[in-house]
Order: sequence, then C-alpha cells, then structure tokens
Amino acid sequence: MTDEKRVALITGGARGIGKAIASRLARDGMNVAICDLLEDAMRETKVELESLGSDTATFSCDVTDLDRVSEMVAGVEEHYGRLDVLVNNAGITNDKLLMRMSGDDWGKVLSVNLTSVFNCTKSVIRGMLSNRWGRIISISSVIGLMGNAGQANYAASKAGIIGFSKSVAREVASRGVTVNVITPGYIETPMTRDLPEKAKQQLFDMIPMKRLGTPEDVANAVAYLASDDAGYITGQILNVNGGIYM
Ligand SMILES: NC(=O)c1ccc[n+]([C@@H]2O[C@H](COP(=O)([O-])OP(=O)(O)OC[C@H]3O[C@@H](n4cnc5c(N)ncnc54)[C@H](O)[C@@H]3O)[C@@H](O)[C@H]2O)c1
Repeated sequence: MTDEKRVALITGGARGIGKAIASRLARDGMNVAICDLLEDAMRETKVELESLGSDTATFSCDVTDLDRVSEMVAGVEEHYGRLDVLVNNAGITNDKLLMRMSGDDWGKVLSVNLTSVFNCTKSVIRGMLSNRWGRIISISSVIGLMGNAGQANYAASKAGIIGFSKSVAREVASRGVTVNVITPGYIETPMTRDLPEKAKQQLFDMIPMKRLGTPEDVANAVAYLASDDAGYITGQILNVNGGIYM
C-alpha cells in the first residue's frame, strides 16, 4: 500500500457509468481525474467529486485523438505527480442492421469504443511500468460476448477490447500492472433509459435477477479490480449482468 492518495483517470466520466465509477473511487480515497466532451456535465461532476474529497482535474478531450490523449495523460501526471488507475469507459452506440450500416457508422463506433482504449492505454503504460504498479480496467459489454442484431459495430468494438486487454495483460503482468475488462449487461443510464417499455419488459424476462443493473453495480466491480486485493487478477473478463449471460 502507498501512503499518498492514488490517482485514477476515468474516460467519459461526466455522466452515467463513468460518473458512478468516479464517485466510487473518490469515496474509496482516490483523487479522480475525468475526461469527457460534455463540458457542463463535467463541471457538475467535478463539484460532486470534490465534495467527496477528491482533487479532481477535468479534461475536455476526445479520446479518439491519440495526440490529445497523450497531452491529457501528461497533464494528469504533471498535476498529481502520478497516475495509478485508468478506466476506459467512454463509449457510444450507433445501432443499425448491417445492410444499412455505412462505413462511417462502423468507423465512428470502432474509433470511440476501441481505438480510444489503445490511445489511453498506450499513453499511460510507460508511467505505470516505471512505478511497477497500475490498474487498467476497460468497460466492454455483454454484447461483445453475445453479439446483438443491429449492433455489429458495437459488438465488434467491445469484443476487440477483450483481445486487446488480454494481449497487453501478458505484456505488462511481470511489472505489477493488471489489465482487466468488465462486461456489463443492461444498465440503467441515458443509453438504455429511452428503450420502449415493451423492450424493457422483454429484457427483464431474460435477466435472471429481473432488474436492470445500476451504474453502481459496475462501479463496485471497478473498485475491486482497482484495489490491492485484486493484485493477482489480470487478463480477466468480469461479467456484471444479473446472470443474463453466464
Ligand atoms: N448503459 C448500458 O447498459 C451499458 C451496458 C454495457 C456497457 N456499457 C458501456 O459503458 C460505458 C458507459 O456507458 P453509459 O451507459 O454510461 O453511456 P453514457 O452515454 O451515459 O456515457 C458515456 C460518456 O462517454 C463520453 N464520450 C463519448 N464519446 C467520447 C469521446 N470521443 N471522448 C470523450 N468522451 C466521450 C460521453 O460524453 C458520455 O459522458 C460505455 O463504454 C458503454 O458502451 C453500457
């Protein structure tokens, strides 16, 4: 254990699951930096995180841009003098059947959901390796394991995170850096709130726990993987899905 506060960077941390993760890690005693494109939401979240005792730096950074991400990580390291935990959480959907999916529909989702994970992980890895301690946790999805009609782009991006993470986990394991993936099922956020009632009911019928997950359910899993207790766990997929996929 270290005496100084650990520092976590959460991408897409302004709202939804990312915000719940940021709050949980702040409550666990970390200083939490967030990046997002939603400046107003990010400002509000910063105030909430500071009320939990976190020194919170915010970065208006598009995670698809490697140069901007690398500047952001340098900014985090300069502000806090360290960066211990990266949570790759930013993500989007753009659902269409393959017949209707354009190259742009494909490319944008792959870029925000998967290339961002490369950009952020590559930018933090050197510092973590030299500290001989680090946690990289990426938010994939049950859809990356099961597939889903209308989500070929999203499923491919989320499955890609898994192969990427297992590979990097092997590269850095001997230096105290763990790389893991969380695959949430259906979680109540702006992404799922607009589902029609009928679709929600169909979902409940499929979920053994008969409820959607909460952002806090995902945050609890991140908190564990980010902790010292999870130091011997790497290259793993942790399903947080109420049993919808086992
Ligand atoms: N909601 C669900 O049911 C569910 C299920 C499984 C996985 N997930 C995954 O969890 C993560 C968070 O999802 P959420 O439901 O909280 O969504 P959300 O839309 O509420 O939050 C995503 C955040 O990422 C930010 N973001 C998007 N593109 C960005 C970019 N280019 N650069 C920086 N920030 C960007 C958004 O502004 C937003 O604040 C996503 O990766 C999503 O795929 C969600």
